[in-house]
Amino acid sequence: VDLKINTDKLEGFVSKAAIYSYQQQLVLHQETLLNKTGKGNDFLGWITLPDETNEAMLGSIMQDAREIAAMADIYVVVGIGGSYLGARAVIEALHHNFAGLLTKQERKAPLIVYAGNNISEDYLADLMDVLDRYDYAMTVISKSGTTTEPAIAFRVLRRHLEQKYGKDEACRRIIAITDKSRGALKNLADAEGYKTYVVPDDVGGRYSVLTPVGLLPIAVAGFDIRRFVEGARAMKQLVTTAKTMDENPAFLYAAARNAMYASGKPVEIMVNYQPSLIYITEWWKQLYGESEGKQNRGIFPAGVSFTTDLHSMGQYVQEGLRIIFETVLSIEKPKRDLTVPAETDDADGLNFVAGKRLHEVNRQAELGTLLAHVDGQVPNIVISLPQINEHTLGQLLYFYEFACALSGYLLDVNPFDQPGVEAYKKNMFALLGKPGFEKQTEELRKRLQ
Ligand code: PA5
Repeated sequence: VDLKINTDKLEGFVSKAAIYSYQQQLVLHQETLLNKTGKGNDFLGWITLPDETNEAMLGSIMQDAREIAAMADIYVVVGIGGSYLGARAVIEALHHNFAGLLTKQERKAPLIVYAGNNISEDYLADLMDVLDRYDYAMTVISKSGTTTEPAIAFRVLRRHLEQKYGKDEACRRIIAITDKSRGALKNLADAEGYKTYVVPDDVGGRYSVLTPVGLLPIAVAGFDIRRFVEGARAMKQLVTTAKTMDENPAFLYAAARNAMYASGKPVEIMVNYQPSLIYITEWWKQLYGESEGKQNRGIFPAGVSFTTDLHSMGQYVQEGLRIIFETVLSIEKPKRDLTVPAETDDADGLNFVAGKRLHEVNRQAELGTLLAHVDGQVPNIVISLPQINEHTLGQLLYFYEFACALSGYLLDVNPFDQPGVEAYKKNMFALLGKPGFEKQTEELRKRLQ
């Protein structure tokens, strides 16, 4: 695999011995995950997904992607949390930064837009303004099939699609991705005759990017899902078999961040230097936040995009509360090639970088920031990839997933449940007057008076 992890810049904050002291526990947790004997063991289907995603599945998704590309300029992905962030993370990392402003011919694929990841009236109404003008198709993704945000968006958009194309044609333009037998979305898909893909029972939302949940939108966006799965497979082979800290990057990452946490640094900031990686950070935030933040424990996962945020959050990172460590996702080679031009009068005083690639300037900003933050008592972990493509992203996402499971076990929590997300839902249902919530409705309304 191409992914590398470097913990040299933790020196002076935690000893190498402290990091390596997790070694034995990690070997046990690796076994526990593979034998399915630990916490949350009914949600470990994601581990073998890279091997199980066969040619038949890839072929079927790629065929759908071709059909969708032929009929749609825009593809609406309706979903929230784990039923949305993985696809968006990969698509935005691979896309042209201004994909939305290119033509379909230039993009060679429909533009992917997202709905059901919020309940904003303005967002959905604005989206429909656009959908009035373009040919579109959509997928609705919900494992439970009962999540409020995507269910509301789908109710609205389905009506829009049916009014635009008629019921039969609308049906051809919808693919539902849901649980194999339960849930309102499954019943609806069966009743309406939508094509469906299944989210396996033993794969939780935030670990589902290698199922059709991630693969279908990524394929529709025009990217090579076979290479993506191959990248994940290569990483799976490594992180599920290597037994030492030096060979296994997931061991090292899980150990390093737990050592940081134990040393009094409870906030981890994921840093990128490419705006196209912002949604990789968002996906990572969900993965780690939902997996570890429970029982009053867990590293708080935050994200910044540099150098942009060096002009906002940079001040806090450099000199605020010393509770932070950073993990930099470093990309060695850009996709494009752009050089700073020379100017004869050098009015802006920038001729000292003339002739240099922008990436070289970005790289020196990255290295300079790393040293400045370490000097400011913010230790840094560096994860590097040679470049962004389907294969390296497959490696990266699987690496994060496996390391997250290990890290959650080191923390002694169940990394595969999310009991805390129910609290807001119950209150929202009660405040909306959902039948069955009458008592809570009254109590909550009183508290809000
Ligand atoms: O990781 C998770 O389990 C969650 O983020 C879910 O993916 C999210 O709540 C959406 O759930 P569902 O797919 O059931 O609509």
